[in-house]
Amino acid sequence: MASSSRSQFTSRFGFIMAAAGSAVGLGNVWGFPTQAASNGGAVFLIVYLLMVFLLAFPMLVAELTIGRYGQANSIRSFRAAWPKGKVPMMALGIVGMIVASLILSFYGIVAGWLMGSFAESGLTLIGMKQQGLWLTTYSVPRNLVLMIAFMLLTMYVVRNGVAQGIEKWSTRLMPVLFVLFIVLTLYIFTQDGALEGLKMYLVPDFSQLTPGLAVSAMGQAFFSLSLGVCVMTTYGSYLPKNTNIPKTAAQVALIDTGVAFIAGLMILPAMFVAKHNGVEIFSDSGALLNSDTLVFTVLPAMFDSMGMIGAFVGVIFFLLMIIAAMTSSISMLEVPVSCVTEELKLSRTKAVLVIGGIIIAISATIVCNFQLLFGAVIQLTTVYSQPIIALLITLTVGWIWNRHQILAELKQGYPELENSWFWKIWPWYVRIICPILMLMVFFT
Ligand code: TRP
Repeated sequence: MASSSRSQFTSRFGFIMAAAGSAVGLGNVWGFPTQAASNGGAVFLIVYLLMVFLLAFPMLVAELTIGRYGQANSIRSFRAAWPKGKVPMMALGIVGMIVASLILSFYGIVAGWLMGSFAESGLTLIGMKQQGLWLTTYSVPRNLVLMIAFMLLTMYVVRNGVAQGIEKWSTRLMPVLFVLFIVLTLYIFTQDGALEGLKMYLVPDFSQLTPGLAVSAMGQAFFSLSLGVCVMTTYGSYLPKNTNIPKTAAQVALIDTGVAFIAGLMILPAMFVAKHNGVEIFSDSGALLNSDTLVFTVLPAMFDSMGMIGAFVGVIFFLLMIIAAMTSSISMLEVPVSCVTEELKLSRTKAVLVIGGIIIAISATIVCNFQLLFGAVIQLTTVYSQPIIALLITLTVGWIWNRHQILAELKQGYPELENSWFWKIWPWYVRIICPILMLMVFFT
C-alpha cells in the first residue's frame, strides 16, 4: 500500500516538533489557563493530568498507529484498518476531515485577532498607538482581513509539503516558542501580585471538584492533543516505519502537557499582576471574566500599565501565541489537503488553494454572522464531534482492527513490544477502558 513517492518526516525530532506543534496551540496557552482559573486552579490541573495520562495518551497512540499502518490520508487509512467495512470507515475519515476544517475555520479567526494584537503592540512600541487602534477594535472588516492574512500564511506553509513546509517550520518555530515562553514566565514572576495567582494555580481547593469539571478537563485534553479529527492519523501516516510509536507519543504528550502547565504558571500570575495594577479581572459576582476578555483585554491592559517595557512584553506574548496557533493550524489544514491530493489526484498547490479557499469562505460566513455562528461552531466541533469521533476511533482500534496487524505495525519500531508492559495494558485499555471512560464523562 505504501507508495515510495509519498513524503515523510525526515527525522524523529522533526516529527516530534510537528506533532507537538500541532498539539501546542491556543488550547494550551489560552484555553487551559482560563479553564484552570475558572475551575478551581489546582483541582483542574490534577484532573486534567489524569485525563491526559488515562485517556488522551492511549488515544494518541491509536490514531498515530492507524495512520502509519495506512500510509495514506485518513479516509484511506481507516479503510485499511477494516477493509470489509469500507463505507463506515471512509465515512469516519470524511467526517474527521470536515470537523478538522471547521475547527480551523474558527481557529483562524482567533489567530487573526492575535495577529492584530501583535501588530498593535508593535505600533505602540514605535509610538504609533493611534494608528494601531483599528487592529484591536472589533469590526467585521478587521476580523476578515486578519483571518485571511493568517489563513494565507497557513496555506503557504502547507503548500510546501510535509518535510519542506510543516516539518521545517515546526522545527524552526517550536524552539523559539519554548524560549519566549520561559523568558516571559520568569518576567511575570518578578511582578507584584504574581504570587497570588501562583497560589490559586498550585494549591487545590477540592470543593470545586464536580462531574462538570471532569467533562471540561476531558474536552480540554482532547482538544489539546489534537485528537478526534484525524490530525494525528494524518501525521502518523508520514512517520517512518522504524519509529517507536508509544515512545514518540509519550514525548509529544509530555511536551504538550508541559507547555500547558507552564502556560498556567504564566497566565494565572499575570492575571493577578493585572489585578494588582488596577485592571478588572473578576466580574461583580466574583466570577472570572470570560476567557476572550482575558487574553484580549486583561493582558493588554496589564501590558499598558507597565509602560514602554509592557509594549515590548506584549509583542513577545502575541508573537508566542501566533507561533503556537500557526503550528496547530497547519496540522488541521493538512488533513483535508492530504485527502484531496490523494483521493482526487490534485496537485498539492491546487488542493491547498481549493481547500484553503473553502475554509476562508466558511470563516468569512462565521465572521459575518458572529453572534449566531461563532459559539455554535465551537460547540458543535469541540463539545460534540471530537469526543464522538474519538469514541468511534477507539472502538475501531479496540474491536475491529485485527490485533495481529496492530502488533505487527507497532513492532516495526519497537521490536521488544510483546514483552513490554505497554502491550500488556494498552490493547485492553483502548478496547474497554477508553470507551467506558469516554461514555461516562460524556453522559455525566
Ligand atoms: N491542539 C491545538 C491546541 O491546543 C489545536 C488543534 C490542532 C486541534 N489540531 C487540532 C484541536 C485538531 C482539535 C483538533 O490549540
